[in-house]
Amino acid sequence: MAIYLDNSATSWPKPQSVIKAMIDYMENYGGSPGRSGHTFALKAARKVFETRELIARFFNVPSSDRVIFTANGTHAINLGLKGLLKKGDHVIISHMEHNSVFRPLKHMENSGLIDLSTTDVDQNGAIDPNDIKKAIKPNTRMVAMLHGSNVSGTVFPIKEIGAICKSHGILFMVDAAQTAGLIPIDVQRDNIDLLAFTGHKKLNGPPGIGGLCLKDELHLEGLVLGGSGSRSEMAEHPQFYPDRLEAGTLNTVGIIGLKAGMEYILAKGMDKMYQHQIQLTELLINGLNEVDQIKIIASEISKQMLPVVPLIIKDLPSSEAALQLDREFGIMTRAGLHCSPLAHKALGTFPQGTVRLSLGNFTTQKEIEITINALKKICQTQTQN
Ligand code: ALA
Repeated sequence: MAIYLDNSATSWPKPQSVIKAMIDYMENYGGSPGRSGHTFALKAARKVFETRELIARFFNVPSSDRVIFTANGTHAINLGLKGLLKKGDHVIISHMEHNSVFRPLKHMENSGLIDLSTTDVDQNGAIDPNDIKKAIKPNTRMVAMLHGSNVSGTVFPIKEIGAICKSHGILFMVDAAQTAGLIPIDVQRDNIDLLAFTGHKKLNGPPGIGGLCLKDELHLEGLVLGGSGSRSEMAEHPQFYPDRLEAGTLNTVGIIGLKAGMEYILAKGMDKMYQHQIQLTELLINGLNEVDQIKIIASEISKQMLPVVPLIIKDLPSSEAALQLDREFGIMTRAGLHCSPLAHKALGTFPQGTVRLSLGNFTTQKEIEITINALKKICQTQTQN
């Protein structure tokens, strides 16, 4: 039996409709969008356009040509940061950031390009928006923050942070890797200037597809220039969107999978899917709270949280606990630092990390009960040894 509890890394299984849509493209009309005028290329181009439109509606982005396809969330974040930031800019991040935000900014800071401030969080990984206000300087150009933490499951109040950014004339970039497809995001309501997302987590798409949604007024420099399928006679890369920021053949099969994944969410209802995952998360937390040797990190059950449970077992390294769960019980989790050393430092779990159990829409109550019993058995064996 396999129990998959690593949905924060990538969601699994994918809906059948996603797999079918991808196979249909590969088998029946695998042309390259925007590269030719034949039937297959046009059909593929239409699917790509429909996906841009769907994403724009999903996140309330004013123009679908400001939905830029990228290879993943990290690529989208790098595009947003490097496409906009200039020498002397100050950027504010939180202590919960994933390396996808932290590393490119740290590199820019180390190169003498920008000035970086990191705002603290509490023991649950929660941020106080007032701390962001306090960190603002005359040269603050951007606040770049995650929406939900892959380490603790904490959700940041992006609407409140967006309002602060707007009132100070600062750009707001949101890393929605863990929340897009699970918690509603409205870039206009939430005053988000740049929204980076990945397709393979809560949006149900395959790995290899992500995107960056932009407000109309923004002009970014592209990270990669080259073939765009448009204005091929020019030596310069086209300046119009989305072509300005997309170069090279698109991941059409990934885009088609993402479209089917988002349609699945719309058909099922995002709130219903969220409630299902959170109810099971609460069941898991409550079951594990009964076990003395288990400490759940950032365990406060709050109104808005992600289906993520990070834990440590007394005297048992996280990697060993995850190995036992996998080898002895067929339960797949992720141990360690989850590409987020800053967050683990903030929560006091650096460098040993945690065992992270992350639930998905296909997780069942039975699987959670089996997982609670498996962890109890691991703890009993641990006590006996
Ligand atoms: N950042 C992803 C995770 O938390 C890959 O596992």
